[in-house]
Amino acid sequence: GLGGCGALGGIVPGLLDGGRVDTVGAVEFDRALAVPPLDEGRLDASGTRVFDLTAQTGTTEFQSGAQTPTWGFNSSYLGPTLVADRGEKVRVDVRNELPEATTVHWHGMHLPAAMDGGPHQPIAPDTTWSPTWTIDQPAATLWYHPHPHGRTEAHVARGLAGLFLVRDPEEAALALPRNYGVDDIPLIVQDKRFTSDGAFDDGTRGFVGALGDTLLVNGTLGPYLDVTSEAVRLRLLNASTARTYDFEFADDRTVQLIASDGGLLDAPVPATRIRLSPGERAEIVVRFVPGETTTLRSTPPDLGTEPEVASRNGGADRFDVLQLRAAASLTPAASAPDAPARLTTIERLRESDVTARRTITLDGFAIDDDVMQMDRIDQVVELGATELWTVRNEMQLPHNFHVHDVQFQVLSVGGAPPPPELGGWKDTVYLPPDTEVRLIMRFDDYADPDAPYMYHCHLLWHEDQGMMGQFVVVEPGQGAGTIEGTGHDH
Ligand code: C2O
Ligand code: CU
Repeated sequence: GLGGCGALGGIVPGLLDGGRVDTVGAVEFDRALAVPPLDEGRLDASGTRVFDLTAQTGTTEFQSGAQTPTWGFNSSYLGPTLVADRGEKVRVDVRNELPEATTVHWHGMHLPAAMDGGPHQPIAPDTTWSPTWTIDQPAATLWYHPHPHGRTEAHVARGLAGLFLVRDPEEAALALPRNYGVDDIPLIVQDKRFTSDGAFDDGTRGFVGALGDTLLVNGTLGPYLDVTSEAVRLRLLNASTARTYDFEFADDRTVQLIASDGGLLDAPVPATRIRLSPGERAEIVVRFVPGETTTLRSTPPDLGTEPEVASRNGGADRFDVLQLRAAASLTPAASAPDAPARLTTIERLRESDVTARRTITLDGFAIDDDVMQMDRIDQVVELGATELWTVRNEMQLPHNFHVHDVQFQVLSVGGAPPPPELGGWKDTVYLPPDTEVRLIMRFDDYADPDAPYMYHCHLLWHEDQGMMGQFVVVEPGQGAGTIEGTGHDH
């Protein structure tokens, strides 16, 4: 049920019913889509690829004549798109010029827990944090954002978020669009509400958190994209704090889904609707004919028959997202008709290899009946383990579930095999109301009994309320005995 939890204070009843948002046909598309600058960093003398990120305050003019107080990395809103190759050693010098402590978490990255940028790696104002690690995972669209305990929603909503693209030779050899800003375009989608003087209004929340009535894509309000190629790769990131989108094109065209959170799918999946809950990514290839115009939209997610359940996610809301305008002549696509028939071969994790099983319950805006405590370790995982996590959403509300350090595979959703779009590597998965998912994951490379990783609902207000737990990875045989904490192993 909704659970008798004090966390419900502050919810505005009017947001639960009525008040439907519908911007379809009402958006003017009069601003060119901004594309975050690509940042390849620099190589230092030892061959480490070094990036500089400064979290800073500023103002941004989303609407003509209105200055919105915002935060950003190296700019007033959002941050550069970092890019590095698999196998490279990287370092990011993150300077905090905000008036309060923050952190920067590398969402989807496999890396040591002390470099992860969760709540245990705070960056005090006017200091610099310099995590370093070696990238060892397939080409993927990852992202970075703050993760300070209890303040994640506020920091992300003000604009602190950016993409981190991993490249590898296997992906580079495929005939796919990859000319950044030309035929390979990131779309960072966020819903906002503005006050009459142009500030972000984040004071009103429904059950899932703050739902906006206006979309920003890469920080652009009412964006259009001039398409110059027959095939365009769109890297969609739902960087909203609470809202789940079902993306589709106004003309119902079929696109090719080529990658999910952790990288390429085995083969393209033809799709007309792409569902992304907060934190999830999808890469799609869209085909154009010269001179045409189409619109990317978000239509209400189908959450089943209960309208009141749907309304808790702003379920009836529709948005125009982006207008795409194809030029009269287009650069030919590298691959015909859409994308290569084979993309990669994903190593399947097998249930027969599972060494530990856990059951994790989301209810009452808590996990397993507890809200997150910085000094409590909830799960102890042995290095090298293959684990099966059964995650149950017991509420009449949508949630999602994100695990740090690993990419997992979805074994089932509500008892059924996952749909093909969930057939690849994932780090965040949508959990419809009253549903159970089974996830399989392997914990390689990094053990540190003193530095926890997080698992949590990525609806950021829920996360901030404590819908989050901590796990440590330890050397085999160094299980619970060495760890301080209550231990929630099931
Ligand atoms: Cu994108 Cu724990 O976060
Ligand atoms: Cu949640």
